[in-house]
Amino acid sequence: MQSTTSAQLRAKYLAFFQERGHAIIPSASVIPENDPTVLFTTAGMHPLVPYLMGAAHPAGNRLVDVQKCIRTGDIDEVGDASHLTFFEMLGNWSLGDYFKADAIAWSWEFLTSPQWLGLDPDRLAFSVFAGEEGVPRDEEAAALWRKAGVADDRIFYLPRENNWWGPAGQTGPCGPDTEMFIITDKPPCGPDCSPACSCGRYLEIWNDVFMQYNKTAEGALEPLAHMNVDTGMGLERTICVLGGYPSVYETDAFADILAKVAELSGKRYGQDEAITRAFRVVADHLRTSTFILGDPRGVSPSNVDQGYVLRRLIRRAVRFGMGLGMEAGFTAQIARVIIRQYADAYPELVANSAFVLEQLTLEEERFARTLRQGEREFEKMLAHIDPDAKVIRGSSAFKLYDTYGFPIEMTIELAREHGLGVDVDGFHERFKQHQLTSQAGAEQRFKGGLADHSEQTARLHTATHLLHAALRQVLGHDVAQKGSNITAERLRFDFSFPRKMTPEEIAGVQNLVNGYIAAAAPITVEEMTVDEAKAQGAIGLFESKYGERVRVYSMGAFSKEICGGPHAHNTGELGGFHILKEESSSAGVRRIKAVIGEVAS
Ligand code: ALA
Repeated sequence: MQSTTSAQLRAKYLAFFQERGHAIIPSASVIPENDPTVLFTTAGMHPLVPYLMGAAHPAGNRLVDVQKCIRTGDIDEVGDASHLTFFEMLGNWSLGDYFKADAIAWSWEFLTSPQWLGLDPDRLAFSVFAGEEGVPRDEEAAALWRKAGVADDRIFYLPRENNWWGPAGQTGPCGPDTEMFIITDKPPCGPDCSPACSCGRYLEIWNDVFMQYNKTAEGALEPLAHMNVDTGMGLERTICVLGGYPSVYETDAFADILAKVAELSGKRYGQDEAITRAFRVVADHLRTSTFILGDPRGVSPSNVDQGYVLRRLIRRAVRFGMGLGMEAGFTAQIARVIIRQYADAYPELVANSAFVLEQLTLEEERFARTLRQGEREFEKMLAHIDPDAKVIRGSSAFKLYDTYGFPIEMTIELAREHGLGVDVDGFHERFKQHQLTSQAGAEQRFKGGLADHSEQTARLHTATHLLHAALRQVLGHDVAQKGSNITAERLRFDFSFPRKMTPEEIAGVQNLVNGYIAAAAPITVEEMTVDEAKAQGAIGLFESKYGERVRVYSMGAFSKEICGGPHAHNTGELGGFHILKEESSSAGVRRIKAVIGEVAS
């Protein structure tokens, strides 16, 4: 079979489901809006949570999309054959419409029909949920695969660990899934070889999740108001498996990027293991960084939240890139290739290209300076070395890493030049402690619950719209939203504005919002096309590419904004509004943190 390209797979997938009544919706931002539980959009289902929970989606109840996803949990694994920090996820969705029968029949047809992927049915295997107390074994899914023509020995019943999807241990929509695998030429690893083992015989390409439960905070599974289908097919991985490539980096998704790295470094991908790894790290991290910077929400490198992850990605890319011998300025040169490659599928990268290139260059320069400072610090440390032990202490190596972004490999290398060793175990011990602390932080963040669309969240969301409207009243209509984040306690709103707000401006905005609340104005929502919304003067992110219908929320006469909701019913429900802080977020972007309720001001 001719190998499929990324563009072909995207187009085929969208066309197949469009023909079956699905509306194509654009990818949401990689930065989740109004979801405090995660830093990045990690799956196609993420931006759709309100609709999986029962809200009406403006485009209907059958949707198909290609979602930009970022998963940075395994950043240090990148460089091997399979880990990527950015990937595209193809997905089709039923919001209370079709369920297992259609989902499985269509998955089968898309995979095997010569008109679509045309895969040999003998090369496919399937897993279904084995059942547990309270949730039956998914005989229904198994019977549907059999009906499609799958032999019994190609259907595997697997436990929750393998065939259950939902926010792990958290609240929100979840359910059993059925997964689809390509069988490779690798022989079975033993009598129990199955898609559950990682021997490489079975490679997953698609997952159909049957979301039929809502997991409550108490851990109970309640049937959802309507049953949904959520599916996910990783684009890069599927292209790789279909083409039989040794790694995702041999697919068309990376061809131009790796060619550019080769041109700039004078090295060859595949030359040796270390070089191959460096090529992969540079390609993966700069691709992800380009998508974060190119997102309409305009995150830039910083020491917190998404900005921190971005900083780590860029710095790791720079370090490996320098190791390959590339000259200063290479990050922007590689990003140009990435932007060109994705220009059609993700035009926002082109629209934001100046910002992407500028931020990469600045961060590359900053990191180079930090490395120089780290080298000086290293020299100072040399003076305090115990002349007998001749090792750099683990704590010192960790300080270089933590404060100066000094990678341990570099410390080892420098130490060696001075005839010294490094207490690598001591370093790793500190490193692990540090990771545990940040892990605990990440879990804390997740505790909010993926689908905690409680009334308080809806009210804070409403307050965000009122704040946005008031800022435009006081500071002028150039103010535009750059980001929003809501926790159970507060809202955070980022917006474009070139300078610090004066105390009078802050008080003015706060008073205006309190006026909107005192007016107890009803909140209404209407569906319309993007053009109609624009004509009515609605503000918001005009992200839609396919002319689909959007929801526009109106709050009295003060605010009209494109938004997916949810919101309060009346502005009066907010009780009061108080700005806690106005500060800089990044160049040209200000940040406000505020609370609602009966607040003393
Ligand atoms: N949400 C499912 C996944 O990410 C489809 O695998």
